[in-house]
Amino acid sequence: MKTIKIGLLGLGNIGTGTYKTLEMNRKEIESTLGTGVEITKILEKDIDRDRGITVPLEKFTSDPEEIFKDPEIDIVIELLGGIEPATGFMLSALKSGKHVVTANKAAVAANYHALTDAAKENNVFLKFEASVGGGIPILGTLDGPLRANKFEEILGILNGTTNYILTMMTNEGLDYETVLKDAQAQGFAEADPTADVEGIDAANKLTILMALMFGKYVAPEDIPTTGISHITKKEIDEAAANGCKIKLIAHATKKEDGTIEYEVRPMHISATHPLANINKEFNAVFVKGNAVGDLMFYGKGAGPLPTGSAVMGDVMEIAKTILK
Ligand code: HSE
Repeated sequence: MKTIKIGLLGLGNIGTGTYKTLEMNRKEIESTLGTGVEITKILEKDIDRDRGITVPLEKFTSDPEEIFKDPEIDIVIELLGGIEPATGFMLSALKSGKHVVTANKAAVAANYHALTDAAKENNVFLKFEASVGGGIPILGTLDGPLRANKFEEILGILNGTTNYILTMMTNEGLDYETVLKDAQAQGFAEADPTADVEGIDAANKLTILMALMFGKYVAPEDIPTTGISHITKKEIDEAAANGCKIKLIAHATKKEDGTIEYEVRPMHISATHPLANINKEFNAVFVKGNAVGDLMFYGKGAGPLPTGSAVMGDVMEIAKTILK
């Protein structure tokens, strides 16, 4: 019986969450696929860190080529984060005939065409469900069950860190810096939280959503973006006095003439609106399709296990095809 062999690039928060998801649910994953699934090599320098998992030392390598050139490895999971070297590594893996799964929104948003074209040219899969909405299965749904629609609008809370910060400032009266540290400790925030708090992470995710929904690539830096680092407790209290909550919203809409408008910014949302009640690291995505109407997706948008769930889901989708 074939075992699906995986090379993992990066054993940080999300890499560890993915490893744990596989270990925790190995029986279900393997019996669903009817095959073994093994992470056989891991590109990671920090082999001593206590991650709460036991990883055999022989799995670690410091040479990515050892993974790309290994004829036994079917799938490369990229969880390094950041644009480079992650993009270069994914291109090398695709060109080596490996399927690639990534959670890396910055790399996918910056190099969407280079990556998707390389996958097509090499007749392999590139899947990135975990890059938008963490554990929420939004990308596969847009590209699968909803594909028959003309999409009209998307409105989303797409960043867990900022939603966590705004929720705790609003509900607990805590200050910005304290809550940011808490979000970092819980593994929601990026290594450099500037990308979260300045709205860049949400813009990366909106780039990916627009490419899938509208077939239009808009570079993240071309999306008008305002973050939450300037939001004060006073503004939050003023919004509350007007029956509103402040939420960081990513929004894109396709007009009747075909033009697309897009932005990421903090918005005052009526406290009775469903988006106002999306709390902590949860994300929510509203989508409007011309046939299906309005849909809303809700779930944990950040964190090692929800993201690991989406990564392993992509791995299993690819494995099913390999095994056919
Ligand atoms: N830093 C991101 C967030 C992680 O807070 O949403 C998930 O993409």
